Amino acid sequence: MYGLLKSALFGLPPETTHEITTSALRVAQRVGAHRAYAKQFTVTDPRLSVDAFGQTFPNPVGMAAGFDKNAEIPRALAGLGFGHIEVGAVTAERQPGNDRPRLFRLPDDNALVNRMGFNNEGADTVGARLDAEPLPDVPVGVNIGKSKTTPLADAPDDYTYTFSRVGDAVDYVVVNVSSPNTPGLRELQGRDQLAAILEALQDAGASPLLVKLSPDLHQDAVADAVELANDLDLDGIVATNTTTERPESLSHPHAGEQGGLSGAPIRERATEQVRFVAERTDQPVVGVGGVATAEDAYEKIRAGASVVQLYTALVYEGPWVAKRINEGLVSLLERDGFDSVEDAVGADL
Ligand SMILES: Cc1cc2nc3c(=O)[nH]c(=O)nc-3n(C[C@H](O)[C@H](O)[C@H](O)COP(=O)(O)O)c2cc1C
Repeated sequence: MYGLLKSALFGLPPETTHEITTSALRVAQRVGAHRAYAKQFTVTDPRLSVDAFGQTFPNPVGMAAGFDKNAEIPRALAGLGFGHIEVGAVTAERQPGNDRPRLFRLPDDNALVNRMGFNNEGADTVGARLDAEPLPDVPVGVNIGKSKTTPLADAPDDYTYTFSRVGDAVDYVVVNVSSPNTPGLRELQGRDQLAAILEALQDAGASPLLVKLSPDLHQDAVADAVELANDLDLDGIVATNTTTERPESLSHPHAGEQGGLSGAPIRERATEQVRFVAERTDQPVVGVGGVATAEDAYEKIRAGASVVQLYTALVYEGPWVAKRINEGLVSLLERDGFDSVEDAVGADL
């Protein structure tokens, strides 16, 4: 059924498609239609429920950051059957992001390249919206990034300001130091810079607090970041963001566009990082990167992810993606004799 709609949507530039989709979901949310369609998309099964960083996730398949940057449609997205929604990235300042075009499809590769550059309405506006609007009854996290014009040295204040505006309403906070599209941002993954940001946020009361890492980090740097997360008693690690690398397997000319690659080509790499992180911490890991099927989600869960997220697969698979993954997960758990998703977390470690 998504086939027809997909051909129409794929005939338009990707960002236009995103805007149309978002507008439709905004309307659906305003008139309450999400409550009706949620019945079509939601899989309710106690075996799918996961407790992690103080939250109860009704199922382990979440909406990754970047789709709902301004926290406009969290209830409409929850209605699509996602077990949690991560809104943002939000920055302290309102930003237009990079010039268009800045989002590219690689259909033959089931991938996207984006260089959005943290386009968002800013912490004041998004914070006011989060405070005013009811949130869905699944956990909602906020992904926070650094404003483009803020020097790296002032990053702790910038992140803390954003947290002070958007943190109260949500269930968890993710520090994004891994987007490839804000110059210098990924340098903040270094131990001293990251410690300064995380400590400032902890002092400001951010809890649960997680950090999202790049798949391009060298293993030593990942190990350092995990050690820091352990030392600071952080609540979890999100692995991974998009990559600036381009696997040779990519066939579409858009592979040459600058930005972060997401989708199927980063699946394995992201799973490797989930495993690497999970082997080094007792804190929950959120697995993201190339999850499109139940098998993909299960692979990350067995590698140590407590919950998973996706973005690119919603574009290629359509609105039934969370339902399909959740139904498939139940079958995989049954096949392998696990009583629940929680039982399967880290089974391959
Ligand atoms: C258009 C686009 C915008 C994104 N924006 C953000 C963002 O603002 N913050 C963030 O942490 N990740 C962002 N991401 C990365 C996703 O959250 C996710 O980590 C990545 O796409 C890998 O998952 P996927 O393969 O399921 O898409 C974005 C991804 C895409 C495709």
